[in-house]
Amino acid sequence: MCGIIGYLGNKNTATVLTEGLKRLEYRGYDSAGIAVFHDDCIQIRRTEGKLAILEQMISKESFNGHTGIGHTRWATHGKPSDRNAHPHKAGGVAVVHNGIIENYLHLKKTLQNKGHVFNSETDTEVISHLINDLIEEGCSFEDAVRRALQQLSGSYALGIMFEGEKKKLIGARNESPLVVGLGDGELFIASDTPAVLNYTREFIFLDDGQIVVLSDGKAAVKDLTGKTLRIEPRYVDWSPLMAEKGGYKHFMLKEIFEQPEAMINTIRGRVSREKGAISFEDFSLRKKQIEALRRVAIVACGTSFHAAMVGRYMIERLAGIPVDIDIASEFRYRNPLIDKGTLMVVISQSGETADTRAALREGKRKGALSLAICNVVESSIARESDHVIYTHAGPEIGVASTKAFITQLVALYLLALYLAKGKGSIESGTVRNLLAELIRIPGLAKDLLRNASEYQTLARKYASARNFLYLGRGINYPIALEGALKLKEISYIHAEGYPAGEMKHGPIALIDREMPVVVLVANDDVREKVMGNIEEVRARDGIVIALASGNDPEIRQKADELIPIPDTAPLLSPILFTIPLQLLAYYVADFKGNDVDQPRNLAKSVTVE
Ligand code: AGP
Repeated sequence: MCGIIGYLGNKNTATVLTEGLKRLEYRGYDSAGIAVFHDDCIQIRRTEGKLAILEQMISKESFNGHTGIGHTRWATHGKPSDRNAHPHKAGGVAVVHNGIIENYLHLKKTLQNKGHVFNSETDTEVISHLINDLIEEGCSFEDAVRRALQQLSGSYALGIMFEGEKKKLIGARNESPLVVGLGDGELFIASDTPAVLNYTREFIFLDDGQIVVLSDGKAAVKDLTGKTLRIEPRYVDWSPLMAEKGGYKHFMLKEIFEQPEAMINTIRGRVSREKGAISFEDFSLRKKQIEALRRVAIVACGTSFHAAMVGRYMIERLAGIPVDIDIASEFRYRNPLIDKGTLMVVISQSGETADTRAALREGKRKGALSLAICNVVESSIARESDHVIYTHAGPEIGVASTKAFITQLVALYLLALYLAKGKGSIESGTVRNLLAELIRIPGLAKDLLRNASEYQTLARKYASARNFLYLGRGINYPIALEGALKLKEISYIHAEGYPAGEMKHGPIALIDREMPVVVLVANDDVREKVMGNIEEVRARDGIVIALASGNDPEIRQKADELIPIPDTAPLLSPILFTIPLQLLAYYVADFKGNDVDQPRNLAKSVTVE
């Protein structure tokens, strides 16, 4: 996620901006920049890389203006570079932006036809040209901003300056957060409170479709029609560190709760329900290429490998293309049978995992067409692949992967639909229905997250167990593995995921009254089989913690604990089954007092073998 700050006051504007951006570094970024007035002109200083480079760049300069905006960029459109860094300026209008403008290409073409020349690949630059174009047509600064925003579709948090009104700053919000800081004789806008907590604790939290006009010491909140709104300021008593976590105790918990929004951002701009169509910015195959595909090989590590396992079910079921899956460290050394009829998909949150990168090279060496599913724009694996589908989960700080995993499942589902549509194995009407079900998932995830306190109670009840077993079948067998991995990597309790059908082949020997067994019971064609496995556990006094779709009264009698899961299409059920398992692991680890965000022995990205 990008970071935004804006300032209107009498302090050294450049210092307030860069200090504020430092408080937003936790959001992750690849470039930074500021725009400040000097005399009557907006000066822009921006660079790829860390804030220290920007500070070095301006260390010998002084700017006498008292209005400015600053930005740390987490690239979504356009690779990290000086010219793609924010702020972006057109005429006398400078803009910083956090979010994704879905219709920016259409707007850009219209503006180019009017003679506008663009210097970057970003969606943001379109906003500065749009506002400037309206001002040149006679609109006031504020009217131009409102009219421009009415033409945008997508998400934005904006900071906007104009050389014609140097004592005015405008902020705007739609789906990306923006707060207004009310200081003593000074005013702020920011993506998040940590950026300005050192100056004020009084904040106005903007809602979607609202703008704020900072001028004459006042913050006027308005809607897009220009109607002034009365919004009571709130007092924020968080420490800056607490505020970086949005008030959550750990980044991992914050990222679990960000999952609905992360899914929406990963779907955004890629589906047309009306047309039953899917498209990706950085990946497209011609129908002939899809028809020529003999198989898909999905390769990854850790949690990303569990996503690969789910992806196999999705692609084989929807597109009817055979899928092989491999752990990257195995794939790279087994001389795999890959050829040009293979689409190799590599999944990596960081885009830097050494084994996955090596596997990608091996697959490409053997002639595969490569597609990366990554969360970090322009990461090594993204750059080395022929195509890329970015998950838009935003930076994932916690070592245990949560929102990145969920958005990988969403990306794989979209990929499966894309391939199926391209192959003609499903027609548009079915795609429309499947997309409608996908679009319900973020809301169902929110419903599950509302039960977090129940999961916390359950976690505490079993936190002293020394071993856990997780059982699943079919598309939820990978989720049993993922639930076990989450628990072991942050609570340090031994946990094993197993295909439920394997119980009789060994694991059943482990069952006793000390062994909590987490069983995933989806509403699918193997439900009855899983119910049989529950009987096997109960018959040996095992403790059954069942996660079950639908409200089957039978399961209530058979399980010691029951976590209801909302009903959804079987291929999407892994997304919903995962969320309680993430929270179960989190609350056990937190109850044990572990360092949840940086668990012992682990790194966020394994860049060595
Ligand atoms: C997951 O919780 C772990 N942090 C780990 O298994 C991780 O998924 C694995 O190292 C792969 O990382 P990547 O997705 O960045 O390639």
